[in-house]
Amino acid sequence: MIDMVRRGRRRWWKASLAAGAAALIAGTTLAAASPADAASTLGASAAAKGRYFGAAIAAGRLGDSTYTRILTTEFNAVTPENEMKWDATEPSQGTFTYTNGDRILNQGLSNGSKVRGHTLLWHAQQPGWAQSLSGTALRNAAINHVTQVASHYRGKIYAWDVVNEAFADGGSGGRRDSNLQRTGNDWIEAAFRAARTADPGAKLCYNDYNTDGVNAKSTGVLNMVKDFKARGVPIDCVGFQSHLGTGIPGDYQANLQRFADAGVDVQITELDVAQASNQANIYAAVTNACLAVSRCTGITVWGIRDSDSWRTGENPLLFDNSGNKKAAYTAVLNALNAGTGGGTSPVDTSAWYVLVNRNSGKAVDVYNLVTTDGARITQWTRNNGNQQQWQFVDSGGGYYRLKSRLSGKVLDVYNKSTADGGAIVQWTDNNGTNQQFSIQDIDGYIQLINRNSGKAMEVQGASTADGGNIVQYADWNGTNQQWQLSKVG
Ligand code: G3I
Repeated sequence: MIDMVRRGRRRWWKASLAAGAAALIAGTTLAAASPADAASTLGASAAAKGRYFGAAIAAGRLGDSTYTRILTTEFNAVTPENEMKWDATEPSQGTFTYTNGDRILNQGLSNGSKVRGHTLLWHAQQPGWAQSLSGTALRNAAINHVTQVASHYRGKIYAWDVVNEAFADGGSGGRRDSNLQRTGNDWIEAAFRAARTADPGAKLCYNDYNTDGVNAKSTGVLNMVKDFKARGVPIDCVGFQSHLGTGIPGDYQANLQRFADAGVDVQITELDVAQASNQANIYAAVTNACLAVSRCTGITVWGIRDSDSWRTGENPLLFDNSGNKKAAYTAVLNALNAGTGGGTSPVDTSAWYVLVNRNSGKAVDVYNLVTTDGARITQWTRNNGNQQQWQFVDSGGGYYRLKSRLSGKVLDVYNKSTADGGAIVQWTDNNGTNQQFSIQDIDGYIQLINRNSGKAMEVQGASTADGGNIVQYADWNGTNQQWQLSKVG
């Protein structure tokens, strides 16, 4: 019973004050989410987690008081559903029309919301004149369009969907055929470069659908992102539309994470979910996935009320036709309020730490300055050497690897052992679950719990001697399982 109380207390710390540990340790103040902080609107609750919650809106509906009441109360980001598309902004070549786009922009800015720009180039909703162009004439017109529109909105757009839906469905992982694609495979990077020049402050996103799980199409997009990163093509984010039916890919979060790991922010950009018995659960799952990925910066739903949706008859949104909150709304709000996302890591992932054992006062140390795979990790008298410095590398979902400053290798439960006494060594970083640890707080000290085994990192036998082995053992809250983080670089 005592153990249950103690563990219950610690879980509360884990759920609500994960950031508190870092605040104590690193001397910084981080936002903590506790029930007392629970917000009552989507936008406020997302903001408490360092994220936005937005809606696609239509200029033609802004005169509807129910619509605008919900919009201004609940959301802190907006996307124009159609008003910034090519056919809307450049209806005849070289003549630009921003009236409705500006209405959306001003609606958002006056409400303190982020504005997502959607979209500079897309194979659909092109004006007739562009549809009839090809080759160099189309390429030049397209890049001019990007430059003109992004320049008009310079400094005001949080993120642009620079290119929308350029990849093919199915198993090819390649580009979709379109008039834009036929101008040459480099049309996407040309668009991103032009957008960066026109509005250096906007985050530049690639946006697509059916990329919500790990599949050939999303892998194709990921490969493009990696290629862009390697060649210095400016790209900051990837949008996952998430027009979902009655299910969600089981690897939805993992898919977001692999893009984040490639060095881009991820955003859920057009969320809607077919009405069925599990609609609320799917909405909650999407929300939880975003909260679990530190680079997931926000969620946008594609409309406000069911009657505002492009998916006529599917009732896929958070508010019913009368503007009442649906079960899906409550599920999202609860997920946001319960989440531990914080938008802030409980540790500083750019810093180097010495990990000092609470029982022995000695530091986690790469024994004998060895730099090879499998090297022993022991405790040693603290000297702040590179062999005693560790950096937390974010694996997402609240898990971290610990990278040695000396060797560049990470702590690893040898051979994926799940047994008590399993050795902790250093190994080449492969982001395996035996290399990932969650961080739990006990009174200003942390415990490191291995993701694969569920066991805690400890000094074996509560040794206080130099050379005492670092191993895993069942979590019993012992002081030899507790570590003080001391920032040294
Ligand atoms: O405004 C005209 C109206 O005057 C006319 O009478 C009527 C006749 O059909 O059409 C109206 O325009 C429609 C427009 O939405 C505004 O309601 C277009 O026909 C219609 O094609 C257009 O649909 C939009 C669709 O993109 C176009 O492909 C949807 O509203 C919009 O929700 C949808 O959004 C896309 C994203 O941009 C990209 N991802 C997929 C998503 C859903 O298809």
